[in-house]
Amino acid sequence: MVPITDPLAVQSHAVAVEEAPPESFKSFWPEVRRGYFFRSKQHYLDFMRSCGGRIYSLRGHKGSIPPFVLVGNWRSRGDITALWHLKGLGAVRGLLVGEAAERSFENGTRLFVTRPLGEGQAGEFKGWGFTPLYRIVLLERRSRRMEETREPTSEVELIHFRKRYLEDVLELDSTAFDDFWKLDARTLNAVATSCSRNVFLLARDRGRIAGYAIGGTNGRLGYLQRLGVRAGRQGEGIGEALSLRLIDALTAMGAHLICVNTQEENNAARSLYRKLGFEEIPERRLIMSRTPDGAGWGP
Ligand SMILES: CC(C)(COP(=O)(O)OP(=O)(O)OC[C@H]1O[C@@H](n2cnc3c(N)ncnc32)[C@H](O)[C@@H]1OP(=O)(O)O)[C@@H](O)C(=O)NCCC(=O)NCCS
Repeated sequence: MVPITDPLAVQSHAVAVEEAPPESFKSFWPEVRRGYFFRSKQHYLDFMRSCGGRIYSLRGHKGSIPPFVLVGNWRSRGDITALWHLKGLGAVRGLLVGEAAERSFENGTRLFVTRPLGEGQAGEFKGWGFTPLYRIVLLERRSRRMEETREPTSEVELIHFRKRYLEDVLELDSTAFDDFWKLDARTLNAVATSCSRNVFLLARDRGRIAGYAIGGTNGRLGYLQRLGVRAGRQGEGIGEALSLRLIDALTAMGAHLICVNTQEENNAARSLYRKLGFEEIPERRLIMSRTPDGAGWGP
């Protein structure tokens, strides 16, 4: 059987992909903002400057903004590159993604990942040699009165975040989450300020932080953005108490619907969210990935 694609055409396109100079980043903003990933132009430019942001675009394109792909570090990881935005139609999309992946591998990237994608778009990446790295479950909870509240053990108190606890939060985060999902200070700050109104709660036990929860609202939509309990303190009711207090706060801020997501294999979190009245949506989101040699990835 003969392949239908024309390898010569592919090659000529590949050569026509160029890395955009940093001084041109501003000109991509009108398209980048449509992805809703960067909440402002300043946030976008800061990210490009400090998180290894790069844009690969199609050379010689007529029109204002050429087809392009935007990539940058996954959190503070210099060895994982994430694809945050893709503009283009048809075969150009795969060419841009392939070029961005190859050039990232040449620069030392060990893993190239997408942001969480719907199943249709994930299928498109599968056709370009990507495989699912994580499957994400989405859950929703309609606002209603809480029937019961659970308080953590008597020594644990729930307080609002203060800057002096930042290191403690980051340290506990690295015990609660694996290497891929743990947060650095910059991303934690981005998560904690991502909505128009935000709440950041801590569970403190004798001066030490045992857990934290971050959420926010955009109008009537509420988000439980992050929840982590220190390894060794899990299973004591701290996660549930933090979540209940956060849901209360989001509801008081006007949220009618609260959304949360977690990895498909995270049974503890899924069980907690179901217990709190969240319902799972059948559709999954997928983080797709590629490695330089096509082998599996381990931290
Ligand atoms: C998920 C997590 C936040 C739960 O917090 P926790 O303090 O350990 O949980 P709690 O003690 O408050 O348990 C509350 C409920 O959660 C569920 N749960 C907690 N741990 C569980 C486990 N190991 N297996 C199954 N269900 C579990 C149960 O429904 C439990 O209710 P129950 O005690 O009546 O059975 C915590 O385990 C954690 O930080 N995990 C790592 C990070 C993470 O996965 N964060 C959330 C996803 S982004």
